[in-house]
Amino acid sequence: MIPKKGMIKVSDVWERIIHWWLAATCLLLIVTGLGMMFHSFNFLAAPVGGLKNLKLIHNFTGLLFIPALFFAVLTWWKEAGIFKFPEDLEWVKVAGGYLWHVDNPPETGRYNPGQKAFFLAVAGFGGLMVISGLIMWFPLSLPRILVAWMYPLHAMGLLVIFPFFFIHLYLGTIGVPGSAPAIFTGYVTRSWCEKQCPKWLKEKEKEGTLEVFGEEKKAAHGGHH
Ligand code: HEM
Repeated sequence: MIPKKGMIKVSDVWERIIHWWLAATCLLLIVTGLGMMFHSFNFLAAPVGGLKNLKLIHNFTGLLFIPALFFAVLTWWKEAGIFKFPEDLEWVKVAGGYLWHVDNPPETGRYNPGQKAFFLAVAGFGGLMVISGLIMWFPLSLPRILVAWMYPLHAMGLLVIFPFFFIHLYLGTIGVPGSAPAIFTGYVTRSWCEKQCPKWLKEKEKEGTLEVFGEEKKAAHGGHH
């Protein structure tokens, strides 16, 4: 997957590192968590020498998940954490044109409300997983009833994040073809961008900050004389 001339840069190296750090820790947490939760998944403990080790891996991966989540929220909050009106509401009304045919789906910013919902679910429920996980691991001398509540809350968080992950995986690969390069090389085709983030594309072009593969970076003001 080497970018071709004319492709458009939609993510920088920092965003891609954060994405894969978050994704890797999140997936490992899901797999190790399921391995502990259900008898039918207990076999996942065999390669690591038993459930005790699986739990250790889960807990320490949780610690690595914390900075990933923190940086993800810092990095994407502005573009994926805040709904913009009216375009986002208009997009929701037609489900972005994903579920039934829509001639011209409303143009949204860099991330559409579906992606914003996923980001917010990861941020909110990810935060819940961190807090509830830490309290279960280190109950200190917190009230017993509070500690007891962390178990169902932790399980509930999984029920939100897990299905969202499949939707994300599907849309990021086969659902919206051409998306995956955004998170591997950082460059997508212009036609992908015109469909997925037309408003962002127009703004970047107007500002003169769009980075195109194989073309010299244009100065934000003026250019050459
Ligand atoms: C393992 C398979 C995964 C693939 C193929 C994948 C693919 C992608 C792609 C293509 C984008 C960019 C979309 C765009 O620029 O429009 C993206 C963004 C993002 N991904 Fe993933 N991803 C994966 C796993 C994960 C996991 C496990 C998480 C979270 C725990 C995650 C969280 C995010 C977030 C927060 C964004 C920012 C934009 C948004 O909310 O959609 N990804 N991913």
